[in-house]
Amino acid sequence: MTVRVINGPNLNRLGTREPHIYGSTTYADLVKLCERAGEELGLEVEVWQSNAEHEILDRLHQAAEAGDPVVLNAGAYTHTSIAIGDACAMLTAPLIEVHISNVHKREPFRHHSYISAHASAVIVGAGVDGYRLALSHIAVAHPDAR
Ligand code: DQA
Repeated sequence: MTVRVINGPNLNRLGTREPHIYGSTTYADLVKLCERAGEELGLEVEVWQSNAEHEILDRLHQAAEAGDPVVLNAGAYTHTSIAIGDACAMLTAPLIEVHISNVHKREPFRHHSYISAHASAVIVGAGVDGYRLALSHIAVAHPDAR
């Protein structure tokens, strides 16, 4: 079983993208952080990113097919994509929704998520550490993922 860390649009720009909101950690650093956390927790972790909605859908379908847990930061698609919400509804293993920033402190259009209703846990505002928290939660609450 592989934990699939799926990142949506603009997250490849981490580190240079609005650092006052998202911090200075680069996307490459985030990949390393998740891989290291996976090693420490005894989880096999695959970190992936796309700016394309249809590619994220395909990835979620693969996770559903494989019965793999998902850590998902769908970026702005979180607030707009019924299709991604529908794909999350198909997942059978735990889904943890992550947002680096505290979306509830930001513009009202970021307050609604099409994903949250299908998530076992939602982590917002913890910075990139939210990914480590999500992986740790999967390891503890869902030990079958190990
Ligand atoms: C984000 C929050 C979203 O509102 C935004 O569109 C992003 C990043 C976050 O991680 O804080 O792209 O998902």
